[in-house]
Amino acid sequence: MSPRLASFKALIYAHCGLVLEGVAEDRLYKILQHNAKRSGCIDLNAYERLIRTDAEQFDILVCQLTVNETYFFRELEQLELLTTVLIPQVLAQKSAGQPVRILSAGCSSGEEPYSLVMLLERIYGERTAELFQIDAGDLDQNVLSKARAGVYSQFSFRGVDPAVRLRYFQPQKQGYKLAEHIRSQVSFYQLNLLAPQFPAELSDYDIIFFRNVSIYFDLETRALIQRRFYELMNAQSILFLGSSETLGNDLGVFELVEHTGQYFFIKGEAYRPKHNNTGTGLTLTETGQSTSDLVLQLDQQALSTVNADDTADVVAPPTEPSQRTDSVDDRRLVALERIQQLVSAGELRRAMRLLESFPVPVTEDYAACLLKSWLLLNQQAFDEAASLLGYALVAQPWSVDAMLMQGLLCKWQQKTEDACQWFRKVIYICPECWPAHYYLADTRRAEEQFEAAVRSYQAVIRILATAAEVNHGLTWIPAPLAASDAVFLSRRQIQQLTADLHTTQVDD
Ligand SMILES: C[S@@+](CC[C@H](N)C(=O)[O-])C[C@H]1O[C@@H](n2cnc3c(N)ncnc32)[C@H](O)[C@@H]1O
Repeated sequence: MSPRLASFKALIYAHCGLVLEGVAEDRLYKILQHNAKRSGCIDLNAYERLIRTDAEQFDILVCQLTVNETYFFRELEQLELLTTVLIPQVLAQKSAGQPVRILSAGCSSGEEPYSLVMLLERIYGERTAELFQIDAGDLDQNVLSKARAGVYSQFSFRGVDPAVRLRYFQPQKQGYKLAEHIRSQVSFYQLNLLAPQFPAELSDYDIIFFRNVSIYFDLETRALIQRRFYELMNAQSILFLGSSETLGNDLGVFELVEHTGQYFFIKGEAYRPKHNNTGTGLTLTETGQSTSDLVLQLDQQALSTVNADDTADVVAPPTEPSQRTDSVDDRRLVALERIQQLVSAGELRRAMRLLESFPVPVTEDYAACLLKSWLLLNQQAFDEAASLLGYALVAQPWSVDAMLMQGLLCKWQQKTEDACQWFRKVIYICPECWPAHYYLADTRRAEEQFEAAVRSYQAVIRILATAAEVNHGLTWIPAPLAASDAVFLSRRQIQQLTADLHTTQVDD
């Protein structure tokens, strides 16, 4: 890397925490060259002098470097957990007339906070504005202007049904304009999460969304930002990161908790999931409808019509085994591949919809059985998941995927001894299955079997120390977290558990 580039990178990192490595570094170089030329600077030295003295020019550069990828109803499972399970609890904590305060930090062009308003509006109707105050902030002024204007292109509606778009958006020449009654419920702020001071209005939050932003920061910046959030939040509050980021962000600031496979952070005790409550957490709204039903309606609307993106995924209805042709098998394979991709990307509802049009009965297809069990498990449909896992285990009695899921099925139903037995079976068949060691460690930790938990976390580190690409034995379902995060978290847990063990021994 040229010394010139290092100096720009340091400047940007100090200003907003963005770490520009690899492809981002190449991009930075091209942008610098282009900007220097456009602003009449003879070289990068002159351009650096310009941005160091001209805040507007520096802002232009920063906005060119942010990654603003977002879309409506992204990671719907999380939004659903929030609206069906957590928000009713938050509302119960509030005194009359006190709104629930929510911040979307790193909101990009607004799809995230607006999705939330649309979901809440379906549940709370006209009372939404009085019950909730939603703020959103981003570093990038360009995306904020777009968010305030509320006009979106097709690109923001990935996986969203035209019926939902029709309900909330008005087609225009340049795209689709979001209805005023939704737009007016979000207040946008320019917000640099590393700025010495935040806008005064940003305080007292019950819920903060910080999804798909932390990936651009190093661990030190992530911890710093979490500590700032901690200050901005009420004594009882909730922090959501993107589902693939959450485990790698357990930095000791907030408490990491799990609700049937979904992880989030809490401050205080009030929203800690009650692990003996394996119910669905459904609550009734004032209209008497289950909040989940309402969200589901929206989601089913969103998924009932095949969008262009999905057309290739939809396959013909099931046929009898005897009638299967090569093309059915081809379609089966294409569908499986696509469903697996969606499962890995956390797009569980779209994956489920594709399974509904799977070309052969799911119970006759081992891989489809596994994938559907995974989706059902994540929906807490434990009985249905158990029944499908039964089919998978008949087809392949030594299936690592199926046995691991049996373990999870037991774990999430609080049958911890059975869960441990399943995880141990997996380890017996595939000693390198670090996800099984990780789940075993997690279960033992929850059961306060600290020494056994430490041994299992050590096994995760040992297996992954040789190579991150170790064959963990899972073919169809995803590992719970990235290998690097598993090592990082196992180390942290060992540290904490060893300290706890030491304290217990001293107390004894
Ligand atoms: C990938 S988008 C995430 C959008 C949305 N949260 C989602 O999950 O769809 C990341 C956003 O973080 C913003 N961002 C990056 N650094 C920031 C900082 N220091 N302060 C505030 N926002 C920042 C970027 O401008 C970008 O719009």
